[in-house]
Parts: sequence; C-alpha cells; structure tokens
Amino acid sequence: MRKSLHFLGCLIVGATTLLTAPAAWAQGGQNTANEGHVSRSWMNKSLLAARRADLLIEKMTLDEKIVMVHGVSPIPIKGYVGYVPPNLRLGIPALTLADGRAGVGNGARDITLLPAPIAVASSWDLDLINEYGKVLGQEQWAKGTNVELGPSIDVVRVPEWGRTFESYGEDPYFNGQMAVAEIKGIQSQGPIADANMYLTMNQENNRFKEDSIVDERTLREIYLPPFEAAIQEGHVGTVMCAYVKTNNIYSCENPQIQIDFLRKDLKFDGWIMSDWGATHSTVAAIKGGLDQQMPDDAFYGKALRAAVLDGQVSMGDIDEHVRNILVPMFRYGLFDKSQSGNWSANVRSSEHDVFSRMVAEQGTILLKNDDGLLPLSAKASIAVFGAAGSKEAKIEGGGSSAVVAPYTVTPLEGIRKRAGAGSEVNYADGSDLAAAAKLARVAEIAVVFVHTDETEGDDRPDLKLPGTQDQLIETVAGVNKKTIVVLDTGGPVLMPWIDKVAAVLEAWYSGQEDGNAIAEVLYGDFNPSAKSPLTFPRSADSIPTARQDQWPGVNGLSTYTEKLNVGYRWYDATDTKPLFPFGFGLSYTTFQLSNLVASPASIDSTFGQSVGKVQIRLEVKNTGSRAGAEVVQAYVAHPASNGEPPHQLCGFAKIQLKPGETKPATLTLSQRAFSMYDVPSHRWVTPEGVYEILVGTSSRDLPLHARITIGHTPSK
Ligand code: BGC
Repeated sequence: MRKSLHFLGCLIVGATTLLTAPAAWAQGGQNTANEGHVSRSWMNKSLLAARRADLLIEKMTLDEKIVMVHGVSPIPIKGYVGYVPPNLRLGIPALTLADGRAGVGNGARDITLLPAPIAVASSWDLDLINEYGKVLGQEQWAKGTNVELGPSIDVVRVPEWGRTFESYGEDPYFNGQMAVAEIKGIQSQGPIADANMYLTMNQENNRFKEDSIVDERTLREIYLPPFEAAIQEGHVGTVMCAYVKTNNIYSCENPQIQIDFLRKDLKFDGWIMSDWGATHSTVAAIKGGLDQQMPDDAFYGKALRAAVLDGQVSMGDIDEHVRNILVPMFRYGLFDKSQSGNWSANVRSSEHDVFSRMVAEQGTILLKNDDGLLPLSAKASIAVFGAAGSKEAKIEGGGSSAVVAPYTVTPLEGIRKRAGAGSEVNYADGSDLAAAAKLARVAEIAVVFVHTDETEGDDRPDLKLPGTQDQLIETVAGVNKKTIVVLDTGGPVLMPWIDKVAAVLEAWYSGQEDGNAIAEVLYGDFNPSAKSPLTFPRSADSIPTARQDQWPGVNGLSTYTEKLNVGYRWYDATDTKPLFPFGFGLSYTTFQLSNLVASPASIDSTFGQSVGKVQIRLEVKNTGSRAGAEVVQAYVAHPASNGEPPHQLCGFAKIQLKPGETKPATLTLSQRAFSMYDVPSHRWVTPEGVYEILVGTSSRDLPLHARITIGHTPSK
C-alpha cells in the first residue's frame, strides 16, 4: 500500500484533545509580566525585527534556543498540528501551526470549507485569491493559529500528482502571482504563511524517499520561481522543506536549495521548517540550512544540544537558526499583538459561506458547450446522474489539507432548488447502467457528475475516471444528445467520450457550496469565466511525464528529462495537441481582442531604471449579449538561440465587460520575461535579440503579436 501513514498520524495527533489551555498561555508571553526581572529591550516596537531578534537572542540560554528549533509531540493543548511552547521568562509567544489550504484543517470544527486551491487559481483573479487568503487567515487566527501551513505552490509536473488539487497549476510565473496574492491575504489577518513544499515536491508515490534528478537551469526557471515570488514579493514568513530529495540530497538538509538558493540568492530571512517527518539528521540538517524540525525533537532536541556541547555545531549556527525564526515572529507582530483566538471558537460566518460559493462559481471552467446548450432554461426536464448527485458529492481532496465541512449542498439539492417547484429533476446514482439509460432517454437534459478521489500520499494510477464512470457517461450520452458532464476532479482526466457529449464543466473540488454554485453556472445566473491552469491531455501517453523513469521513477530516481518543457511548454515543444490547453475556458458570451501595442518596441538589455518595464496594451470587446469576463494572456517567445520553450506566460489580466462594451487592458512585463538562467555564471541574463509577445485567450489561441527588440546598452 502506497498510502502515507505519516499524515494520518498527524491528523490523529491534531485531533486529540489533551488539554484546553487559555489562549493567552497557548499564545505565549505577551500578556505575562517580566518574570525573572529580565529587561525586555526587544519589546521596543520602534526597532527593526532583526535588531529585536538579536537583543532577545543575547538573553537566551542554549536550552531556550533549542526549544525554538523544534516542535513538541504530543501537543499539550487542544488542536493544531505543530506546536512550539512559549517562553514565559522572556515573553516569547508559542507557535501554533495548523494546516489550511482550503479551510482550517486538522479536524477543526465550525470553519468554512472553501473550494480547493486549483479552483480559485482557475479564476485567474488575483483579487479573489487575495480575499481567499484573507478568509483563511482570519479563520485561522480566530482559531488561535499563528502559523498557517499553506499555500502549496509547487509547479505541477505530473498530472497524476495526488496533490494537484492543492496547487495552482503548471506555470511558474502564474503560481508565483497566485502565491503572492494568497500569502499577502493570509498574513494581513495575523498568521504567518508557509510556502510549501520546497523543492521538487512533484509526486506522492515514494514521497519519503523519492529523488528528483533535475538540472540547475530547470530548477531555477521552473521550480524555484513560485518560491522566489513568495519570498521577494509576498514576504512569506516561512518555507516548508519537502519530503523528497533533490539531486541525491534530502530537501531539509540540502545546502544548494536551502542556503544557496533561498538565503544567498533570494535573501530569505524567515525560517525553514521541515515537513512532518522530513528531517533526517542533526548536524547535516543544521549545516544544510534547516531552521526548525517538525513536528518533534528527534534530531533537533537532545541530539542537537549534544552536538553543540561537543563542538560539531557552533553557538553561532544555533543563533542564526533562532534568528530566522524570530525575525518573522517580530515582523508579523506575534510579540506585539494579543491573540484571543482558540481552537474551539466558531469562526464561521454567512459572509464566508457566500464567499465559498463565489469562489466555486469563479473557479468553474466551461470546457465545451456545443450549440449553446448551456445555460439551461428553468423549464427543462433534467436527469442528474452520479455520486455527486447524492450525499457522496465530491467537494474536497484528501490528506493534511482535508477540512471538516460544516455542511454540503449537493449538486442535486442545488439543481432542484434552482429549477424551482413544479420542475422535473430526477436522479439516479448510475450504479445500474440500464436504469440510468432508461431515465436519460426520457429527460430533455442529462447532467452526469463524475469525480476522482485525489489525496496526499497517493498519486492517481492513471488519468482515467475511476470505476465505471466512463461507461456511465457513454451510456447516458448514447441515449441523450443533450448530455452535460460535470467533472469534480482535482486535476485533469481523460475524456474518451468527449465527442459524444454536448457540454463539459470542470468544477474541481468546490467546497461546501458545491451544489448552489454549479446550479448557478448551469442556469446562467453566473457566466463562467475560469481558465484552466493545467493542460488536459488527449491520451495517456501524450503527457510530458509518460515514461517510467520520469514518473514514478526507477530505483527511486525520478529523472526530469523533460527539463524546461513542463505542462503546456511540452505540448508546444513537441507539437502535441492537447484536449484542452492551458489557459482555456469558454463563456456564455464571446470576446474579441484587438489593437495590440507593445512599448517600448526596443529596449536596452540592462532594463535600466530609466527605461522601466515593458507594457503591452490592447482592447477587449464583449461581442455577445451577456455580461462576462475574459482573461487576457500574454506569452513571450524568446529568440531561438536562448533555448527556451516555444512560448511562456508572462502576464495576464481579467477584464469584466458588459454586452457590447470595449475596454483597454494593460499588462506590465518584467525583465524576467526576457531572461534566462545562465548556469555557468550563476545568474539571470537578458540576451539581446527579438522577442515576440503573443496575446490571446489561451496558450493555444494567441492571435495578436508584437515584437520587442532587446539591444545593446547605449554607450554614454
Ligand atoms: C504534509 C504537509 C502538512 C503536514 C502537517 C505533511 O504530511 O505534507 O503539507 O502541512 O503533514 O499536517
């Protein structure tokens, strides 16, 4: 069994009630008097976080420092999945860590279950994901959490990856933008966010031992950028090092990725905590850059103390790790704010219920809509099929991000409510194909809900819909031409029946308001505007990681032979036709893009301050009869000599338009769009040459082109 027993263990610890502590005690010492008469100079809020950390470290004993660099297990208070006790002598607050990619996890009750991260990412709406972060942060803070273990920002390399639903998709730039917006949202509400899982966490199979063999350019250009954005623009306080190895070394003791990349190059001054059970050593981890072991002290407790006492680890090393933890604690106010939240609090609100529904609508992608079958008319007689029509509705993924939903609106309930009294909405679960055919034959419209069961700890064996769901679709579509398929999946699936059905919606794992949201989309109360942040392949072998040495690996090695050609980059580089490309999604209205201008048309290769950034402008028109939103996407094609994939996303904007309305769209492209990582010189370079900017509404529909010439730096 490939299942991870590890996270199950964590959930049990998290859910065990050991004792309920008052919040002030749980959260630390800010409310306690100056015990032991230590003068707390670090409590001076006008000092910089780094200075405050140094002042505090000067007063800490070795044992007090050791307490900071690991979690305690079992956790002595109710709730949470990670815990560092407070230091009452010095007034250091406790750290209370909880999972929460789509809501407060670890068995918490009375919280909001939002749609999965892949759904909110599909909105391509940075304001929406910022708000998503705020809702998460607010509920976590009210639960007494001061470190939220999210977001998960890894680029999806393998479409079968069991944690695809927790991610933002397959593009490094896109994931970075999403991460920044979500992190800012979370951290604005109190908790410190945690960018995870660092680095090359791209599969669940064999995840505790898997070794990702990947060249440096690919690491720098594909897998590092979301973390770079999270650190430099999102100012994330913590990063979680992953279970896997990168180039033979476990992430949490890997000096190249932790020290060279994060500390030296990205100037990260927050802390690196290990994933739960991902620490493998004491001295190697300390020297390799790991600041904090989670969830226990197996390597960073007594063993670390002994390593300091016998000189293998210096006090300077310990101080550096403690400083990395304290700096974000000071910066994000953990010493200064009072935290009155607690794990038993009811943090739900009707605003958050409404928000959950809104995200589900904004994240639902219309993939196919022949002859404008959708939206439905209220009078149509409908037959609903599949488990999602019942209490088994698939509303979230499994593993550490799982949340106890306060309620579930099933699709059947949502559709019945929306269709109204007197309308005909029948239902069959689809387990009996003959009965399904009988019902489908007499209905005007058939809606089949299908799903995958994706979870941390397990990759999907393949991209097929599990069980007999493909047969159910074939059976229903065989007798009813107006068949609509709704996918409740966490990642792409194969659709062997695609030509036989009239419409397809990808609704992802859409949270507690599932049924209400899908009914609003089906009946056109909400006009879909989402775009897929993942490619949907045509067949099992037409994917970038189809070979076993790539995934799940041979002898524990997963070799990244596709290099930079991850996701849509591979489809374009190999001229492989996807079923639905990255960036694709339809609407109930239509749009037209025109008048693309890039300025300046030429720029010197230093991108000096006076030159500034490149802007592209165009016009977007709603040419249909309904209000709607279009996502304008810009891709850059480098000169061939740069050896980059054919074209890569470098900007996007979501524009809301009334029927007939035209609006300008302006996208700003950074120097990075025109840069490549030069491994011999260990830096990003901007080679001279002609770069093409392609603009459109998906990675495969790019009608507008402009050129930008990067030239010599003019001599003075
Ligand atoms: C997961 C992390 C999670 C941790 C604590 C691990 O198994 O990989 O994402 O934060 O457990 O639950």
